[in-house]
Amino acid sequence: MKVLSVVGARPQFVKLAPICRAFEEAGIEHIIVHTGQHYDPMLSDVFFADLSIPAPDVHLGVGSASHGKQTGAILAGMDDVLDENRPDWVLVYGDTNSTLAAALAAVKMHIPVAHLEAGLRSFNRAMPEEHNRVLTDHCADLLLAPTEVGASHLANEGLADRTVVVGDVMTDVLYQVRDLVADKPSPVADVTDGEYSIATIHRAENTDDPKRLEAILDALASVDHTVVLLAHPRLVAKAKDHGLSLDRGNLVSHEPLAYPDLVASCLHARGVITDSGGLQKEAFLLRVPATTVRPQTEWVETVELGWNVLVEPGELAAQASRPRPADVDDQPYGSGRAAQEVAKALTQAAR
Ligand code: UD1
Repeated sequence: MKVLSVVGARPQFVKLAPICRAFEEAGIEHIIVHTGQHYDPMLSDVFFADLSIPAPDVHLGVGSASHGKQTGAILAGMDDVLDENRPDWVLVYGDTNSTLAAALAAVKMHIPVAHLEAGLRSFNRAMPEEHNRVLTDHCADLLLAPTEVGASHLANEGLADRTVVVGDVMTDVLYQVRDLVADKPSPVADVTDGEYSIATIHRAENTDDPKRLEAILDALASVDHTVVLLAHPRLVAKAKDHGLSLDRGNLVSHEPLAYPDLVASCLHARGVITDSGGLQKEAFLLRVPATTVRPQTEWVETVELGWNVLVEPGELAAQASRPRPADVDDQPYGSGRAAQEVAKALTQAAR
């Protein structure tokens, strides 16, 4: 069996890592296509190097552009790649423009599509990620849901017969990396263990409106301990456009971290403040309290179990210093073997 994975953005490289290993173990031929949506070395190359992911077989090199142009460039670029490789499955990951474009390219060429991380919903139709995930789910042939909640959303949309719950592949890789960095000190200089929070802000809803971004930066600056802001290029670009400084009060900006360093920096932190989907879940898995700067989350289990709080900027500072919640043993994201379940589901559904 031949599977062609399409990835393009930072969280997709993380998800690709355990999939590569599981496919190798299962004897599945694997072609990797990198769309080029993310191209900065700290958003792309370091993930391939640190997570031992083979170099992509194909690089489309699309780069940054408006949603339509970026999605369109990937869609156009995929035709020849699919024609040359004729895989049994195209595997798409998560909810980026690369996900939607690759799914659409494959479905139009009658090549079966599997969507990894299917069924997540924020029900916020203003988010580009929500458009991407809903449209991808409805055009895919196999929906690999990370959780029962995801599967229930798919069932509500009439997609139950195409759904398999496999667990969350980010959990697989996080547990492996956590064990590797457990004895390493925090890679962030000039902070004291347990006395700083790690922050990331990059969502369009939080960065593109100058007033909203300024309110978030002011809130981060007024947290009662040091907040290390790992600045995504979108945030840096938007802050510059809006004339806003990323260093103020207790807020200190820092370049993005490689994945093992990110995990190590969280392990030594007292909290995580973020609008990322992946990081709020990673914080939960590492049992670090998360404060999420969004009105909804797709990872509702993190909130229900008491480890994540959704905030508006006005409540951010108070929530970021709330006491640690009660410990829980729940494993809503699986036990760290989701990638093997993906290999199994693809093999069974290909028959
Ligand atoms: C994308 C995904 C988002 C995901 C995020 C992870 C979409 C719609 N959004 O958002 O779901 O959470 O990736 O990081 O697909 N830039 C660079 N260098 C890069 C990449 C981007 O400088 O390597 C800058 C450019 O100014 C670019 C901006 O960041 O215009 C936004 O990049 P883009 O890929 O469009 O979206 P992300 O915000 O990264």
